[in-house]
Amino acid sequence: MIRDFSFFIPVKLVFGEGKLAAAGEEVRVLGKKALIVTTGDLFKKTGLVDRLVANLTASGVQSAYFSDLSPNPLHTEIDAAAAFGKKNGCDVMIGLGGGSAIDAAKGAAIAIGHDRPIWDFCMGPDQAAITAKTLPVVAITTTAGTGSEGTQWAVITNKATLEKPGIGSDYTFARVAIVDPELMASMPQKITASTGFDALAHSIEAYTSTLATPITDMYCEKAIRLIGKYLRRAVKDGNDKEARNGMALANTLGGFSIAVAIVTVCHGLAHSVGGVANTTHGESLAAMTPQTMRFSMRGNPDKFKNIGMFLRDEVVNVGQDRLEDSVREVERLIADVGLANGLAKQGVKVTDIERIAEGVIRYMGGSITIDPMNPGRDDLIGILKKSM
Ligand SMILES: [Fe+2]
Repeated sequence: MIRDFSFFIPVKLVFGEGKLAAAGEEVRVLGKKALIVTTGDLFKKTGLVDRLVANLTASGVQSAYFSDLSPNPLHTEIDAAAAFGKKNGCDVMIGLGGGSAIDAAKGAAIAIGHDRPIWDFCMGPDQAAITAKTLPVVAITTTAGTGSEGTQWAVITNKATLEKPGIGSDYTFARVAIVDPELMASMPQKITASTGFDALAHSIEAYTSTLATPITDMYCEKAIRLIGKYLRRAVKDGNDKEARNGMALANTLGGFSIAVAIVTVCHGLAHSVGGVANTTHGESLAAMTPQTMRFSMRGNPDKFKNIGMFLRDEVVNVGQDRLEDSVREVERLIADVGLANGLAKQGVKVTDIERIAEGVIRYMGGSITIDPMNPGRDDLIGILKKSM
């Protein structure tokens, strides 16, 4: 029996090697002047920003460039980006980079469109609604990935409170996502591993979420199979085109899945961990995914037992303990791509644990209520301790 569900992903996906060249024609129909948003000046130095500007100019689109953003973008930085974009008359945002750049572009699009500081939309009883006033966003992803090009979500950090909520609405999807695997060839090994694991975590969590749909299940299964087949190869040899291509698709499929089925307890924890200890998102997920799987799998064994089989790209699973087999397969992948570091090694202190658990409940509550085991405070503390 198929349960009722709704499915809404209004993103035009332009996928393939060399598709950066499509940017100008895609942006042209959305606005006259683009704000190109990156985190830091790496892509200015590599010439990628200049290539994009030339491409926009050839299509008659003017542009301005803003790069003063941290890898986990702060609300104050997003307000600065919005002020800069407004001053320059920008009417369309381009996020060029990984999830942080795309999220910052979405944040600036909200702030400019509503003419309000971004934190007004993030948390609290007076949290403002994100409406159709949001400016259009084009996402050009250079990692595989955070899936941000396929979602409505933007993750924004408040440096004063160390809160890191994910915000979004039907109006914050990228209008166009350009996924060009060529742009990912230069991604360093460590980022390939951590962002690739993020894509796996999205797919596992969306697949096992109580909001999973038959359509996201197909996306998740395909993404997990691709990641099992290609993440090790992409980490080992960044120029392995087939592996980069497979990971790029897996990432976007994972993004589409979390747009609808959202994420569960591991992402809830990872946001709070990242806010408190400024960890790398994918690395914290790798530290906690095995323990969150062991915790949540009793709530949806029919789904969890398939994960090991998908990762091995098999069609039947004949293992004795298929639930534990799925966790072990994830652990093998974590070890093989060099992500086997507990939270302690990532700078999380035992004294942070209670604060992290409370942060999940305060501003990532949705991620635990749709988890198949709906963990409470003590469960969260238990998972964190086991993941140190
Ligand atoms: Fe993520």
